[in-house]
Amino acid sequence: MSDSTRTVGPKIIAIVNQKGGVGKTTTTINLGAALVEEGLKILVVDLDPQGNASTGLGIVPDDRDFTSYELLLENVDLHDVIQKTDTQDLFLIPATTDLSSADIELFSNEKRSFLLHDALRQKGMDDFGFDYILIDCPPSLSLLTVNAMVAAHSVLVPLQSEFFALEGLSQLMLTIREVRQTANPDLRIEGVVLTMYDARNNLSQQVEADARANLGDLVFTSIIPRNVRVSEAPSFALPVLAYDSSSKGAVAYRSLAQELLKKNTKIAA
Ligand SMILES: Nc1ncnc2c1ncn2[C@@H]1O[C@H](COP(=O)(O)OP(=O)(O)OP(=O)(O)O)[C@@H](O)[C@H]1O
Ligand SMILES: [Mg+2]
Repeated sequence: MSDSTRTVGPKIIAIVNQKGGVGKTTTTINLGAALVEEGLKILVVDLDPQGNASTGLGIVPDDRDFTSYELLLENVDLHDVIQKTDTQDLFLIPATTDLSSADIELFSNEKRSFLLHDALRQKGMDDFGFDYILIDCPPSLSLLTVNAMVAAHSVLVPLQSEFFALEGLSQLMLTIREVRQTANPDLRIEGVVLTMYDARNNLSQQVEADARANLGDLVFTSIIPRNVRVSEAPSFALPVLAYDSSSKGAVAYRSLAQELLKKNTKIAA
């Protein structure tokens, strides 16, 4: 058990930032792969109509027969929607552009915020024995992202080490507060991780200083550097840990996974 509020089942973490291109998908895939290296069994849920996590994990659109859309809206069997990837013990529920209409369809559904929550807690899920479920969210605070936050035990926020990085965080924190007040009182913030960090760039250092000053312990010590191997890996349909195991990006994601596990065992203790 890795969380005091949980008695059984996997820990569910939503990877959220409404800003586009900050490293949500990259973090989902590579944190997932790094947790697998720690001996854990991981499910990635692609909740973004762009389907980047699915592509990055090597599931091409033709192989996405059942997707997170069907998981949310059509009661599909978990065995049909959960797919293996080339990384052992890393599984995926893929997404396609179908999901872009889900926001509208969800709106007329009475249980609209709870669909992912209920889907991920259905009985058959225990059979898979996942330790963590990582949800890759779209770049918005839409109903899809709200579904992820209602389903999750915690939110992990990638923060790109660029100007304006902290802008939008207050909106995100407000949304988290709203979700806590209405649907998921136990929702925690797992942490904020700096991504695409360039140590030679003053701006990166400034963003780090600002983030640590404003968010304190919420900011992970581990930092993900800007690293070309990280950006190349998805075109080979691999996590960077498999594509170039000793690259700076792979090393950083391993460190993030270990830090996250350490935090969680502390909570459980
Ligand atoms: N550490 C890194 N070093 C170099 N490139 C990176 C790194 N992290 C992410 N990238 C690249 O930056 C781009 C955006 O990353 P990613 O797709 O993970 O962001 P995102 O937040 O999921 O985007 P979106 O909001 O569109 O879903 C991608 O091309 C990715 O390969
Ligand atoms: Mg993405």
